[in-house]
Amino acid sequence: MAYEVIAVVLSYLLGSVSFSIVIAKWVKGIDIRQHGSGNAGATNTLRVLGKGPGILVFLLDIAKGVAAVWIGHALGGDNDWIPVLSGLAAIIGHNWPIWFKFKGGKGIATTVGVIATLAFVPALCAGIIAILSIVVTRYVSLGSLLFAGITPLLIASFYYSLPLFTASIVLCVFAFVRHRTNIVKLFQGTENKLGAKKGA
Ligand code: G3P
Repeated sequence: MAYEVIAVVLSYLLGSVSFSIVIAKWVKGIDIRQHGSGNAGATNTLRVLGKGPGILVFLLDIAKGVAAVWIGHALGGDNDWIPVLSGLAAIIGHNWPIWFKFKGGKGIATTVGVIATLAFVPALCAGIIAILSIVVTRYVSLGSLLFAGITPLLIASFYYSLPLFTASIVLCVFAFVRHRTNIVKLFQGTENKLGAKKGA
């Protein structure tokens, strides 16, 4: 039992390493949460700091999710719930990071890393749909919500395990809760588009 708890706690601590905050501080000496949309994530890093830092944050945030699932596999033994709980813990850490006064991001890149590691085919299908929607509308938030919303459906239809399906529902709820401001703006037609300079 001790190893399982260690896996989940370690994953939360890893998820709490908010790369957008660290890189924005390092590159420009700013707190990313006070610029653009105010979100500590890859999209806002792209918006505020440009392509290079944005892509770097995206990849590192994905890597956190992948690493958390690996930690869960390594320490969880035969228990199928531990990789799933470790992945969820990393996303919780990203959204509510202990190292940054619990004010983090919206968790999508880390969710991509977690789902891609646990269920590659559903992640790939949801990813393609999300990317297409972003290319067409230029709303990253819409693509993020589509990814999170479609994943449980795909996991259910690919007959994955109960832990995995449960996790995908929780991830979906997290994503919609964290994007509630974006959802209002999408309905109002005031949401930031990819490539637009200023965030709200
Ligand atoms: O994953 C975050 C993205 O969906 C929205 O980010 O900064 O436009 O609120 P942002």
